[in-house]
Parts: sequence; structure tokens; C-alpha cells
Amino acid sequence: MHHKLINFVQERYQTKEFIPLHAPTFSGNEKKYVNNTLDSTFVSSVGKYVDQFEQQIEAYTGTAKAIATVNGTAALHTALYMAGVKAGDLVITQALTFVATCNALYHMGAEPVFVDVSKVSLGLCPKALDSYLEDNAFINNDGFSQHKVTQQAFRAVVPMHTFGHPVELDELMAVCAKWNISLIEDAAESLGSFYKGQHTGTFGSFSAISFNGNKIITTGGGGMVLCKGFDEGIQTKHVTTTAKVPHPYEFFHDEPGFNYRLPNINAALGCAQMEMLPTFLKQKRALALQYKDLFKGADFKFIEEPEYAQSNYWLNAIICPDEGTRETFIKETNYDGVMTRPIWKLMHRLPMFENAKRGNLPVSEWIESRLVNIPSSPTNKQ
Ligand SMILES: Cc1ncc(COP(=O)(O)O)c(C=O)c1O
Repeated sequence: MHHKLINFVQERYQTKEFIPLHAPTFSGNEKKYVNNTLDSTFVSSVGKYVDQFEQQIEAYTGTAKAIATVNGTAALHTALYMAGVKAGDLVITQALTFVATCNALYHMGAEPVFVDVSKVSLGLCPKALDSYLEDNAFINNDGFSQHKVTQQAFRAVVPMHTFGHPVELDELMAVCAKWNISLIEDAAESLGSFYKGQHTGTFGSFSAISFNGNKIITTGGGGMVLCKGFDEGIQTKHVTTTAKVPHPYEFFHDEPGFNYRLPNINAALGCAQMEMLPTFLKQKRALALQYKDLFKGADFKFIEEPEYAQSNYWLNAIICPDEGTRETFIKETNYDGVMTRPIWKLMHRLPMFENAKRGNLPVSEWIESRLVNIPSSPTNKQ
């Protein structure tokens, strides 16, 4: 199967040179807008592109307020802070995620709790979440969930839309409502992905998007907090700056700010990339359809969007029949200059999270041993 993939991607990207997993494309107004920031000298934390980029994301996703940050990890850190996560709290997330999800909550002093993912979405499984809480939580007299043994508060549930495929949000929101726990979406990978017609990242009270260089659009480095409430959005902006109270010349800061502001020069790139997003989405969907055909009938299974969702197909992925075949596939493709990668190691295998609380993780383990990401850059070549 690896020969078939190598031939296909070399043809698709029209090159025999190295083919990366995901490379950015700058074929629109990127240079023009970045040059504008240089010409105007507004390259830093103030400038019209920051406001414009936030407005573009608000219009596209339908969120009440979008706040630009230096990267997706900072956006997630801010989202958790705004949702009231405190040191010592428990935050439930997936064991199968990129480490940044856990880093953000670790730096708040919160503890991750790992629950299994669903085979339908590759993201947090609503049934596994409810069953973990049934076994380990109780609802206290104030109506909030606490751990049965340690008494710690279960403060937030953070599902992640893996590779852009939306999680089962209706069911997850029902479990969060039952246990009275806030939902915060790690939508770092899912700009352009919709759940039943609504953009991912607009279901939780706060959520985070990433514009890292490998994402569907990039600002070099960058992120965005999506805020469900307008007033919460204003407060979010305040904490991502230096929390300065507006005044013509006095310096008065009413709380410790993060200074996570996205520079205007990066936002300029973002404005141009947002203009390209519909094109990227179309190209990535076309590529995914071709991959689906390529793997039809093989004992490798191409991961398709869940039937309830429209995915951005950020990173395409296949499931290999077994671990051994997976190793050969990765070795052979990389040897021939076609970048493929195994999915991340489960979070509890990393030294900083090895003692984290967790439920049973059979689906996460199954995916961990079989999944491979394959080249996914948008391309207009057919
Ligand atoms: C699932 C997930 N969460 C968070 C992040 C963090 O984003 P960033 O790299 O912009 O900090 C990323 C991407 O890198 C990610 O894939």
C-alpha cells in the first residue's frame, strides 16, 4: 500500500521532492497586508489587522466575540482561566490529543483526567465521559461535581476536534449539563469544521483555535479565543492584554494580565489567509475524496468525517490493519520522501502526566497503535 500512496501523492503534488504533512500556502494578499504593517510601522500589539482578523473570525464562525492571541496554547490557557478553572481543579480531556491541550491546564495548576475517545469522531466519547463520572463523581449540595475520593472539583470538560473532525457535541453537552461541568472546546485543529451546521468552537462557553504554521490557515504563530458571551469576550480581551484600565495617560491595571496579544504583523497574515480559507477547504475536501478512493477495498481504512458533521479535513489519516504494518508503512513512506507520522502517544505515557487520573482507554489504545497521518496540504493541482 505504501507504493500506491507514494505514487499518488507524488502525482497529486507534482513533485519527487520531499512532501511534508502540511505546508502553508501564501497565494493571496499575504505579502500586501504584511508589507502594509511594515510601511505603517504598526507591527506590534496595536493595529487595524488585529481588529479586522477578529471580526473575520467572528463573522465566519458566528461566535459572539473572538480574541486574538500569540498561539493556540495561550488561547486555551485564557479560555480555561475565563471559565474559572483554578489550581487543584480536575479538567477532563482526551488521552488521545496533542500535548498542548494538557500543557495549558497544567500551567493553571489544574490536573488532567483522561477519558476514552469515540471511534466515530476520534474525540472525547460521551458514553465514556458519563461512565467515568458515574464511577468517580458526586454532585455536591451546591449542584457541582466533585471527585468521590479526593473531593476535587470537576471544573471543565475539554474535548478536542481531532484532525478537524467534530466530536459528538449534542451528547457531550448533555453529559456536561447532567454533571454541571463547563464545556471548553479545543478547536485548535478545526477552523472550517461544522457540527450540524454550526461552527465548532461555538458550543462551549470558551474555546481555542490555533494558527500555527501547520494549521489550515496560519499567522506564523497565533491563536484565537472564541467567547460565547459578548461581555465575557470583552473581559477576555482585557486579560489577554495587560489589563490596563482605559485612561489617556495613567497606568492602572486592575488584575494580572497575560499579555498574550497577537502582533499586528501576524494578524495581517491572518486576514489574507482567511480570504483563502474557502479555497483551502474545497481543495482539502477534494484531496480527502481522492484518498477515500485510493484506500477503497484495501485493509487500510481512510478516516472520514462523521455523518453529522462537515470536517475541514485538516490532517488526513488512515487506520492500518495492525501495529507491524503501521511501522513498515511509516518507515517506507518517509524513506521515499513522503512524510507520514504516527498519531501522538497517549498523554498518560508522558512523564508529566503518568500519574493522572484516567478511565479505561481501549479505543484510544487501539487508535494509538494503528493510525497514520498522511500528506494533507491544500493544492490546486488535480
Ligand atoms: C489539539 C491542539 N491543541 C492545542 C494546540 C496548540 O496550538 P499552538 O501550537 O498554536 O500553541 C494545537 C496545535 O499545535 C493542537 O493541535
